[in-house]
Amino acid sequence: MIRINEQYLKLQTSYLFADIKKRMTDFQERYPGREMIKLGIGDVTRGLPRACVEAMQSAVAEMADEDTFRGYGPEQGYAFLREKIAGHEYQARGVGIEADEIFVSDGAKCDTGNFQEILAGDAVVALPDPVYPVYLDANVMAGRAGTFADGRYTGIVYLDCTEANNFMPDLPGEQVDIIYLCFPNNPTGAMIDKEGLRKWVDFARKHKALILYDAAYEIFIQDPDLPRSIFEVEGAGECAVEFRSYSKTAGFTGTRCAYTVVPKDCRAFTSRGEPVSLHDLWLRRQSTKFNGASYPVQRAAEAVYTPAGQEQIKERIEYYLANAQLLKQSMESLGFQCAGGLHSPYIWINGRRDAWDFFDLLLHEAGVVCTPGVGFGSCGQGYIRLSAFNTRENVRKAVDRIQDALA
Ligand code: MLT
Repeated sequence: MIRINEQYLKLQTSYLFADIKKRMTDFQERYPGREMIKLGIGDVTRGLPRACVEAMQSAVAEMADEDTFRGYGPEQGYAFLREKIAGHEYQARGVGIEADEIFVSDGAKCDTGNFQEILAGDAVVALPDPVYPVYLDANVMAGRAGTFADGRYTGIVYLDCTEANNFMPDLPGEQVDIIYLCFPNNPTGAMIDKEGLRKWVDFARKHKALILYDAAYEIFIQDPDLPRSIFEVEGAGECAVEFRSYSKTAGFTGTRCAYTVVPKDCRAFTSRGEPVSLHDLWLRRQSTKFNGASYPVQRAAEAVYTPAGQEQIKERIEYYLANAQLLKQSMESLGFQCAGGLHSPYIWINGRRDAWDFFDLLLHEAGVVCTPGVGFGSCGQGYIRLSAFNTRENVRKAVDRIQDALA
């Protein structure tokens, strides 16, 4: 008899963004003529930067010609891209990451979800609440979460992020093995400073834990003194893995390209306490289960590092951040307490009512889609998240409609 992985039965209903999509579809079926403004899932709306499009087009042309055609690429990603990443994203900022420590992939969602596979099944997981649901669900599937009771899994160490601690998780009060951190944070938009990050690195080294650091939104950091990478903190190379993405950076949500940095020094341990290189294990895992992002897509990502590409992505990020300011100011003027929106495309709003009720209110009264905070964890109850990824025109329209609906 074929049996299922029963851990999947412990997952809570459907994936958050699938739930939201269903409510949007129901709404559209009920009110076919009504326009919806989507400020829910963080999905970019601006076209790909011209520099990326041109690079992709010429790579596609190469693929059409037998002399320049490329089949399977290197599992870790093409050297031309990994070298650019190492140079521009790390070495130029004084961080000693080498090209062969970078693994190019087709998304940070898959990488943050998959990385736990190479870690022990009984590792204790700590994660912030609220949190990007992929980290939690991946560990539920892997059997690390225990049972679900009163809104939480018994096997997970939750790090509450609330107004009281400025949405900054406190260090765990117990031994944990895997720690997920995300800065700039999704969903709260909070950003950590170097001192704050140093505490986590010191904790991980002392407890022989591993930090899985999601930096998918680092491009939104405006203050040059804030850390763009966990590897800016000394010692992080032995206890942290970093995930980055071109999705929000360069509009690749539909194009798919990301990378994960696993330093050669990064270690985990066997049950006998012997250190093992996570770089080697992840390479082994990727070369078995992944065949690389496509050549044209990697060429497009490489073009991000040309002067034109840099200029074009900067313009887009400023555009989205200006949207974020509009949304934040408008919600604040309505009397709501807001976080984020400064180094982040997300605004985290204390709605002072049930999160799904607020979601329904905004959808039905304003035709605006948000994300209910409780979908990110129980500390998100009472909150909604607004995403700044939309056109300026739609953001202005959304602001007016929300003001009318809540007036
Ligand atoms: C979000 O809205 O939280 C993200 O866009 C989802 C994702 O990146 O997968």
